[in-house]
Amino acid sequence: MELLVVPLLLALTGCGLSLDNGLMRTPPMGWLAWERFRCNTDCNTDPKNCISERLFMDMADRLTEDGWKELGYQYVNIDDCWAAKKRDSEGRLVADPHRFPSGIKALAQYVHSKGLKLGIYGDLGTFTCGGYPGTTLDLIDFDARTFASWGVDMLKLDGCYSNSSEKAVGYPLMSRALNATGRPIAFSCSWPAYEGGLPPQVNYTLLGEICNLWRNYDDINDSWESVRGIINWYSAHQEVLQPAAGPGRWNDPDMLIVGDFGLSYEQSKSQMALWAILAAPLFMSNDLRTISRKASSILRNKVLIRINQDPLGEEGRMLLKGRNNIEVWMRNLSSSSFALAFFSQRTDQPYHYRTSLIQLNITAPEVFSAQDVYTGRVLQNLEVDTEFTVTINPSGVVMLYVYPTKRLEQNPDAGLLLL
Ligand SMILES: *[C@@H]1O[C@H](CO)[C@@H](O)[C@H](O)[C@H]1NC(C)=O
Ligand SMILES: *[C@@H]1O[C@H](CO)[C@@H](O)[C@H](O)[C@H]1NC(C)=O
Ligand SMILES: *[C@@H]1O[C@H](CO)[C@@H](O)[C@H](O)[C@H]1NC(C)=O
Ligand SMILES: *[C@@H]1O[C@H](CO)[C@@H](O)[C@H](O)[C@H]1NC(C)=O
Ligand SMILES: *[C@@H]1O[C@H](CO)[C@@H](O)[C@H](O)[C@H]1NC(C)=O
Repeated sequence: MELLVVPLLLALTGCGLSLDNGLMRTPPMGWLAWERFRCNTDCNTDPKNCISERLFMDMADRLTEDGWKELGYQYVNIDDCWAAKKRDSEGRLVADPHRFPSGIKALAQYVHSKGLKLGIYGDLGTFTCGGYPGTTLDLIDFDARTFASWGVDMLKLDGCYSNSSEKAVGYPLMSRALNATGRPIAFSCSWPAYEGGLPPQVNYTLLGEICNLWRNYDDINDSWESVRGIINWYSAHQEVLQPAAGPGRWNDPDMLIVGDFGLSYEQSKSQMALWAILAAPLFMSNDLRTISRKASSILRNKVLIRINQDPLGEEGRMLLKGRNNIEVWMRNLSSSSFALAFFSQRTDQPYHYRTSLIQLNITAPEVFSAQDVYTGRVLQNLEVDTEFTVTINPSGVVMLYVYPTKRLEQNPDAGLLLL
């Protein structure tokens, strides 16, 4: 009983309302084209990788046939450059007829037939960032109805080619327009990223009421520098960002690039771990047709996914950063559990970090077990004053899933080095 009471109370007293479409009570998971495939429209020379219905059908096939769907990855999301350069004779957005000969409605049917959901991309403004037709204020209702008529499940609304006043009107209008279609369509807002991501320009209470997720910061690129930049921006502004998130309303640090070209194995583990701590949407932007087993094992890590998808929906944050360039991150989870990530921004060699929960200001009456989410090793009988050592590789992470348990009589692992 006790385990049920705590989250319920938190839910009742939790700050902020969230968009009332019932969607994304835990962070969304799926696949999104942009980071890996960008605006590649050259289907003549690059038919396998151009933005076309073939690409999205291929990814839908991989998500279902390779077991990603069962792990929770259920969205197949289109980004920019899907549309024809002109609206049709009735003013409707249409897909490029050469690259999407069957149209978006047929693609949605295909994706739904696999038990997946389809996301589409639009832009509040005269053009999309890639120069395709945008949605000006007068077309918001019309375009929302078009997306709903196609059976789309999610809309990412970018913000190129509109000014701040138009955005302040347009994003709430689109939220209402999507609701008015009667079709549950999750709403991803790029708005805050265009306004610097911080108050007073950005009102996170309002965002939580009108969007299911929002991009706060720059687009991710295929490099460690870019992932680090995002992580550092999130820790620098966590006082604002952490309380903004909750069930139905998520900060979006952008796509997972695990499986692409820019990250080492250690860095890939770090991105996945930090994204789990941040309660971030898990949209992979990679090629699921050719992804390596190693990269795929990181993205398929069930303990990490469970942490990311924790029903409490509380975002985590950085607890401390030492002069040794080791950062300790924590996320509260349901059932008195929590996740700890020891993240190295060092560039020399593996670092032995010795600590205890009490040294991290974590107090609790319980006895815990701590499972290293990547090695699977479990440290038993962890009490707040038990000292333990983790060894963190340069730009790597050690992530622990810590849960209360009964004390074990045998205590083989006390003071163990988690290697
Ligand atoms: C529209 O909003 C109302 C309440 O604001 C909510 O009850 C309803 O489920 C929403 N419908 C959709 C399709 O989002
Ligand atoms: C934004 O654009 C609208 C119309 O395009 C214009 O009327 C308005 O003055 C602009 N506002 C700002 C702050 O530039
Ligand atoms: C932010 O938005 C909320 C909800 O719409 C509103 O009540 C509040 O007054 C806004 N805050 C500011 C500083 O404008
Ligand atoms: C990604 O690259 C673009 C273009 O160079 C840059 O503006 C942006 O800041 C980069 N993103 C990050 C997170 O570093
Ligand atoms: C976890 O929850 C406790 C109690 O609400 C709170 O004091 C603490 O700051 C939270 N920790 C993190 C990392 O958010």
